Amino acid sequence: MAKLKTLFVCRSCGAVQNRWLGKCPDCGTWDSLEEASHDPNAARDPQAALVGAWTELTEPKGAEVESGAHARPIHDIADDEANVERMSSGIHELDRVLGKSRASAASSENAGVVPGSAVLVGGEPGIGKSTLLLQAAASMARHGTRVLYVSSEESASQVRQRAVRLGSQSEKELFLLSDTNLARIVEQARRVMPRVLVIDSIQMIYRSDVPAAPGSITQLRRCASELVYLAKKSGIAVMLVGHVTKDGQLAGPRLLEHLVDTVISFEGERYHQHRVVRAVKNRFGTTLEIGLFEMTGDGLREIPDSAGVSPVSGTEPRIGSVVCPVMSGSRCVLIEIQALTATGFLGAAKRKASGLDSNRLAMLIAVLEQHAGLRLADRDIFASSVGGLRVVDPASDLALLLAIASAQTRKAIDPATCAIGEVGLGGEIRGASQIDARLLEAARLGFKRALMAKSIGIHAPKNARLELVQVKNVDQAIEQLG
Ligand code: TYD
Ligand code: MG
Repeated sequence: MAKLKTLFVCRSCGAVQNRWLGKCPDCGTWDSLEEASHDPNAARDPQAALVGAWTELTEPKGAEVESGAHARPIHDIADDEANVERMSSGIHELDRVLGKSRASAASSENAGVVPGSAVLVGGEPGIGKSTLLLQAAASMARHGTRVLYVSSEESASQVRQRAVRLGSQSEKELFLLSDTNLARIVEQARRVMPRVLVIDSIQMIYRSDVPAAPGSITQLRRCASELVYLAKKSGIAVMLVGHVTKDGQLAGPRLLEHLVDTVISFEGERYHQHRVVRAVKNRFGTTLEIGLFEMTGDGLREIPDSAGVSPVSGTEPRIGSVVCPVMSGSRCVLIEIQALTATGFLGAAKRKASGLDSNRLAMLIAVLEQHAGLRLADRDIFASSVGGLRVVDPASDLALLLAIASAQTRKAIDPATCAIGEVGLGGEIRGASQIDARLLEAARLGFKRALMAKSIGIHAPKNARLELVQVKNVDQAIEQLG
């Protein structure tokens, strides 16, 4: 056996150093270097023996040479992506995020997991990753897709109990395995021959011949790349679950993200019931779409397009609360944005945002000070999006600005009014994209008026009884409070 060399790998960015350092010189993270031993032979052949054996079993001799070993002109290469039959996960909101093939871009058919692809599902512990994947696995099995669900954290009977709670137990095509050894998992996959292999979670999987502890960077990288290779070689879709660290990064983020085809992040506040599934990276679709779920006593329930998320359009005006139709991909969600101002100390005033961008909050406070004459320098300001959904749409600026102004002036906005628009540094209100979709959704959920940027040629969509109030700048917008 070749001599093992000791190296130090950064837990955060994956950079390799020859000696231990307190701070990673590549990404600047403190105390992130971890000792790892490096086997020169393994590096030479990253898809080592384990999966190699698989290839021999399942592929005719010489296939490797023909598959892609020589360069060919682009038009000679078969367009697999358009023809490939995707496997629906049976959960519409998840399929939407996984993407659909180009051929069916207009309809929602042929959406779901691409065979032979690797999907990484990341999220904080306890957010519902296992629940989501088990529900997806059960529903795929119900539709005749064979799934092997490998749990490295729970025993098979625990998984079964959970499946029973989620209302499924007798699917013939759903196989459960509780194991952490990669060699045994691959062996079982070879026996069962599933079309989808779920590994919950990748952090606990290890290879006994890699001299590093399970969960370490070396093991993680080695096991994940082998599973990805397995997916590519066998056509099995591999779905990996990865826990994220406290600061919201997947453990070893760079390491795993570049390996897989799709990275899905599962977000939400643990003590709120709403969950958002979002693609962070997707080789087979857009990263704009989001999927919405609600955590209930019996699993995750999809929130279809036709339902609103926030408890919107109440009858009583509320101070510091404004609703905005927020776009995410092709869907519009009405989100209530709240703000609170309280006495603080000049020079040490707190500004906290939850579910909103804190830089955006700071900018809007400055705009209010400069262009609307509000004195906020000694006020603590808290802002949040109700329901725990993260808002990144710039068109939510106007709603946030009005919420702060409303909290500060103690004047509420009419509860049947929503606000759409981006706010510029000069205090001007700018138009938002996909305005028709936003107005339609607002009208559908019972809003009567929409506050928006002044622009020519904008009409309320047909059939939508919605009054458009066009405002040019921050002052005019604030006049609408009261
Ligand atoms: P889990 O899927 O195990 O989270 P993860 O795999 O991301 O660590 O479950 C998350 C939480 O969801 C758990 O604390 C309990 C809750 N839960 C429900 O509210 N209803 C349910 O039906 C299930 C299965 C879980
Ligand atoms: Mg879990």
